Amino acid sequence: MKVFVTGGAGYIGTHTLLQLLAAGHELCVFDNFSNASPVALTRVRQLSNRDFDLVEGDIRDAATLRHALADFAPDAVIHFAGLKAVGESNDKPLLYYENNVTGSVNLLAAMDAAGCRRIVFSSSATVYGEAQYLPFDEDHPIAPTNPYGRTKAMVEGVIADWTKATPNASAVLLRYFNPVGAHESGRIGEDPRGIPNNLMPYIAQVAAGRREKLSIFGDDYPTRDGTGERDYIHVVDLAAAHLAALEYAASKTGCEAINVGTGQATTVKELVAAYERASGRSLPVEVIARRSGDVASSCAATAKAADLLRWRSEFGVDAMCESSWRWQSGNPHGFAGD
Ligand code: NAD
Ligand code: UD1
Repeated sequence: MKVFVTGGAGYIGTHTLLQLLAAGHELCVFDNFSNASPVALTRVRQLSNRDFDLVEGDIRDAATLRHALADFAPDAVIHFAGLKAVGESNDKPLLYYENNVTGSVNLLAAMDAAGCRRIVFSSSATVYGEAQYLPFDEDHPIAPTNPYGRTKAMVEGVIADWTKATPNASAVLLRYFNPVGAHESGRIGEDPRGIPNNLMPYIAQVAAGRREKLSIFGDDYPTRDGTGERDYIHVVDLAAAHLAALEYAASKTGCEAINVGTGQATTVKELVAAYERASGRSLPVEVIARRSGDVASSCAATAKAADLLRWRSEFGVDAMCESSWRWQSGNPHGFAGD
């Protein structure tokens, strides 16, 4: 299959490229490198021993996007490109609406012009907002609590409307829970710019000695040990879900939202302990106040993914931490080390 991959140079994108290339797909990556390094793509080429097209461009630039899609003539699109920092989205909402929403509208218009009718979209469990019940199933009400989450909910709606209006169109909206970990080679992984916002990359930098200690945001939640619990999903499992979604989209028309998680929740303290085991280092922590906007617990209902995509996660938290540590310890400064 010919697959056009927006945001393919990023964290989840690069892990998915490796599996797409291994499965024999022909690829075109479209990325503006606003949150990625070309070195990551060099490493994907090395690891896979395969090549692919690359267009350096911005999904906000409708003309460039239209030309790139028309030239490549894909069978399907995987749409990773977007901004993802919740805090930044509060400060710069219009930047988020422009990148994530306008960019996605441009993409669908370019797909229309190129006659491409299949899309797999990177959505997020953040669309559910505060849990009314757990685990979150796909019918849980959608009530995002920040601009980033609202861009994801809006794009889901735009894609659903597009599939209704476009004969034979097919879309899968993958609602990721908390992606962590790295490829087993330790050659690609998450490379956040500046101070990491998310737990696992922060822990990794503490283990590597780049940060002094982890601040645990609250230990008075109604969970096993009082710290927040999340459904962490290995990025390699998540990548595999995209291949399953592509196959599903090729076999059906319409639009489906599908959770991608493990169904298991892990607390902050449990993740720290797992990382200590994986790295063989003891990690200094300090409990501070809750982070505003955080929820106690999040966890995926996984039946729909198993049923429609025939996909289930394979890896547990220990494998997530081991692979993260292999990447972190081998690349203490991420891709900037090259
Ligand atoms: P990432 O930042 O590593 O990857 C996103 C890629 O998109 C980057 O390579 C970036 O350079 C590119 N990009 C951003 N804006 C662009 C634009 N306007 N034009 C072209 N390229 C652009 O992030 P990721 O973690 O790989 O996430 C991929 C997708 O999954 C995003 O849409 C994100 O919102 C979504 N998602 C991520 C998580 C997570 O925790 N990582 C969770 C849920 C959903
Ligand atoms: C974040 C995003 C969310 C996104 C999700 C997916 C925020 C506010 N929300 O949420 O939109 O869908 O990632 O990846 O960024 N923690 C600490 N210390 C830290 C960092 C985190 O104790 O330094 C705790 C948090 O309180 C939480 C857990 O670790 O309990 C996970 O945090 P994080 O990795 O930021 O993920 P989410 O809160 O799920």
